[in-house]
Amino acid sequence: MVQRFTLTETGVAHHGRYVETAKYLAEESAGRMIFSGFGTAVDDMPPTPARIEASNPANISIIPFAREYWALWEAGAPYAIDPVTLSTLGSRSSVLNDQPAPFSAHPKLARDGTLWNFGVDPIDDVLHIYRISADGRSIGTQRLHVDHIAPIHDFAITERYLVFLLPAITCNRDRLMGGASFAESCQWSPQMGMRVLIVSQSDGSVIEGRLPAGCLFHVANAWEDKAQVVVDYMRSADPSSLLAGWSVMAGEYRHRRGAALTRARIALPDGSASQEALLNHDAEFPTVRASDTGKVYRHLLCLERTQSRPQDVPGYDQLAYIDAQTGDRRVHHFGDAWLAEEHLLVGEMENSAPRWAVGSGLDLNAKQTVLSVFDLRSLEAGPVAQARLPYALPLGLHGTFVPVVFP
Ligand SMILES: [Fe+2]
Repeated sequence: MVQRFTLTETGVAHHGRYVETAKYLAEESAGRMIFSGFGTAVDDMPPTPARIEASNPANISIIPFAREYWALWEAGAPYAIDPVTLSTLGSRSSVLNDQPAPFSAHPKLARDGTLWNFGVDPIDDVLHIYRISADGRSIGTQRLHVDHIAPIHDFAITERYLVFLLPAITCNRDRLMGGASFAESCQWSPQMGMRVLIVSQSDGSVIEGRLPAGCLFHVANAWEDKAQVVVDYMRSADPSSLLAGWSVMAGEYRHRRGAALTRARIALPDGSASQEALLNHDAEFPTVRASDTGKVYRHLLCLERTQSRPQDVPGYDQLAYIDAQTGDRRVHHFGDAWLAEEHLLVGEMENSAPRWAVGSGLDLNAKQTVLSVFDLRSLEAGPVAQARLPYALPLGLHGTFVPVVFP
């Protein structure tokens, strides 16, 4: 479901609308779940040649692109959404050459307006790479074979490269083909280390590197520094956040170690790699400005989990604004009874720093979703504005800020 908050001079409005994927339409018609989800297997799922695409809920992120919004899953095609009505315009499988194929929820917009993305096919061990023109046409695809490919959720681009960090997780193909959900099919594989793939944007050549075994969901940013690629990402040393987090669905959550902001350096052209923790706070959902993508940057927002948060409460309770050059950090603590969601950097001041942080969260006491706006010059003072819905929304993953709906 796409949730939209519209902020105008007269107030804040909320609209939600389901993405009418093939899965959604079939299951609405049948009145029950038919196709397996990311973490839920359906025993009698009907045979279909496009087994994975049949499970596409288009529910991880949404981006404005090519005069549409694209609602994105990561193992199937993007779905185009009408920016005005939020109605579903249809699958945009043309960027996948009209074949069922994975397409991640974290594409990156290059400075020339083209969109880079990737997709992981764990059945055939293929890393798909996509380049899409600013008007939404496929202008290049590449298939890289990667032995025992990992479930890569996010990546980074620099001026000349695509940067992939592979968590030390592999997919048990037999379990997946045997009907297990994707989450059930993943296994911790520390012997693989954390593989690094640096792919040339111009010729597709690959430089390989390796870091100590670890896991990640999200990459903050990457850039080129002389003969190095530098990449900031949220690293966890073990797989508990990927493999053990699903107990929350049974109401049995116990928090284990989370991720922390880490900076890796990969030397070119030999691929030798090293890394250091930038901060030691349990954190996730790093966001940077689109204008900072692929270059040295300062402004980073993320969510943190304070050490005092009760271990049986999932999620994040603090927003942090970090200077990625100095490590300086300012925070706002929402409180234990809060599930903070991704916040975004919005606006720009005369010194080119962003002005606002905007994001949502779930107030567990009131059972209400709240949209907050922070002035980044005084984050510690708390939100300068909040819009409280008279109901709770399902927790979301990623959002985007659009300055004007009708450009
Ligand atoms: Fe994500």
